[in-house]
Amino acid sequence: MTTPGMRVTDLRLKPPSDAGRSVCESSLLAVLVLAIVAGGCGQSAERGREYTPDMTYSVAYDSFAPNPATRNGMTLQTPVRGTIPRGFLPLHYTNTAADAERAGRELSNPYAHVPSAVEQGHRQYETFCQVCHGARGDGDGPIVPLIPNPPAYSSERVRAMPAGRLFHVMTYGSGRMPSYASQIPASDRWLIATFVHTLQTRPEAAQ
Ligand code: HEC
Repeated sequence: MTTPGMRVTDLRLKPPSDAGRSVCESSLLAVLVLAIVAGGCGQSAERGREYTPDMTYSVAYDSFAPNPATRNGMTLQTPVRGTIPRGFLPLHYTNTAADAERAGRELSNPYAHVPSAVEQGHRQYETFCQVCHGARGDGDGPIVPLIPNPPAYSSERVRAMPAGRLFHVMTYGSGRMPSYASQIPASDRWLIATFVHTLQTRPEAAQ
């Protein structure tokens, strides 16, 4: 029994309509991909946009590049003789007893009248000097058996030293005491000198 107008073969031979659509979609996708790739190829001669060309192509010479404009042909120049770097003051003294004495006469402590100088100098003293010279400058720091006998600041010799001479001792060292110039900036050496003077003027140091 069949319905009028319908044949059995109609049901069997009907084409799979879903499969047909997916073939269609994938070829469309392939065409699209091709179009994009081909489009990209077409623009290959055009380079990307440069937003900061003056940074990409520096107008300045590189530090170590040869330079036709300078006398010695180098870009990086050494400072002119006698140049003083910022934050540094020249010290026209050598490591001799005569210059130590002269520094004491000629140099004056820029921090002498700054109220907080003693406190700051104290902190630096604890860091750099106390280990040998002791908390009160009596020459009895914890390391003393190994580094023999730093003098007490209350000794006649050290008491007679003006701030400039203390500065010279810290800068160049003295006898077995090493130089502290590379570890303590000049300004801190002056602050320490301020503090050392307070150790010398305490009543029990004056005997
Ligand atoms: C490593 C140990 C050591 C440290 C740290 C040290 N000193 Fe000395 N200091 C000595 C010794 C040792 C002497 C005695 C040097 C000599 O006569 O051979 C000395 C001597 C001195 C003298 C007398 C110099 C002279 O000409 O008679 C002064 C002033 C002095 N030190 C200040 C300082 C100050 C300020 C500091 C901190 C910045 C300091 N020292 C750090 C070991 C040290």
